[in-house]
Amino acid sequence: MKIFITGIAGFIGSKVAQKMISLGHEIFGVDDFSSGLIENVPKSAYFMELDLSDINSLNKIDFNPDLIFHLAGQSSGEVSFDNPVVDLSKNTVSTLNIIQFGIKKQSKKIYYASSMSVYGDAGNLPVSENIACQPLSCYGVGKLASENYLRIFNNKIPSTIFRMFNVYGPGQNLENLRQGMVSIFVSYALKNKAIPVKGSLNRFRDFVFIDDVVDIWCDFEKTLDDNLYIINIGNGTKTTVNNLLSTIQNHIPNLCWNEIDGTPGDQFGIYCDNNLLKKIYNKNKFINLELGLSRYIEKLRN
Ligand SMILES: NC(=O)c1ccc[n+]([C@@H]2O[C@H](COP(=O)([O-])OP(=O)(O)OC[C@H]3O[C@@H](n4cnc5c(N)ncnc54)[C@H](O)[C@@H]3O)[C@@H](O)[C@H]2O)c1
Repeated sequence: MKIFITGIAGFIGSKVAQKMISLGHEIFGVDDFSSGLIENVPKSAYFMELDLSDINSLNKIDFNPDLIFHLAGQSSGEVSFDNPVVDLSKNTVSTLNIIQFGIKKQSKKIYYASSMSVYGDAGNLPVSENIACQPLSCYGVGKLASENYLRIFNNKIPSTIFRMFNVYGPGQNLENLRQGMVSIFVSYALKNKAIPVKGSLNRFRDFVFIDDVVDIWCDFEKTLDDNLYIINIGNGTKTTVNNLLSTIQNHIPNLCWNEIDGTPGDQFGIYCDNNLLKKIYNKNKFINLELGLSRYIEKLRN
């Protein structure tokens, strides 16, 4: 199939592209390098540098994709408060442009990288896809708006929306200290520096290993029909920040950290009800944090 992948120079987009190429698909990727890296772009993909918030650049693309995997976006809740208008443009205007592009190219489906941030604080139970969304960050508001645009255009181009929880693993940018709790902590730990932990150690998250996430994106046929799908991607395991630190400590001893003020819009605690994911993808095994971290840190050491 011909697949258009946005955010191909980023962490998740580049891994999805690599696997789709190995499965024999033809890939055209785009990225504006706002956080992505040129070395992440697979050599055998067609590539164009462009900012998706500019519809004119998209209109120049001479590629008619069967499917669109839309992973580009400003990916940090914290950064979204620096300039909410830029965030809106990079995330939501870009999604609207991708919808117009997909309709024009008569693509069959858009697969969209949404986030657990759409939920806001959801209490102490695993969140399922049908609870009310009350995002707390500009990032979460923009992701929810993008989801809604995809929903109202579903009759012209259908969508599958993945609400991903905390994705981690090899390929995360260790230089980016404002996005990705695991990579930020590991980055400090490997340099023997104290980790600035923003907010309470009792906060909790759902950490999902990159390989599991890539497998789901690449198994696109499971939702390749005209229905709108909204699906959580997470392990379904509640892990506190404290648990995360002690699991990292199993691999990087002498870990130390300082608790500092939290960031605006940070959810206190959230983890995933992944029953829908398990049902549709027939996937019952996820890589647990201990194993995922050992693979990640071993890869970094090598
Ligand atoms: N990593 C996670 O834990 C996680 C969780 C939930 C959702 N997401 C979403 O998944 C997607 C991929 O996340 P990631 O972790 O790979 O982030 P990333 O920052 O590594 O990748 C995003 C890529 O999009 C590019 N980009 C941003 N705005 C663009 C624009 N307007 N035009 C073209 N390219 C643009 C960046 O340069 C980068 O390469 C993002 O949309 C993010 O919001 C990520």
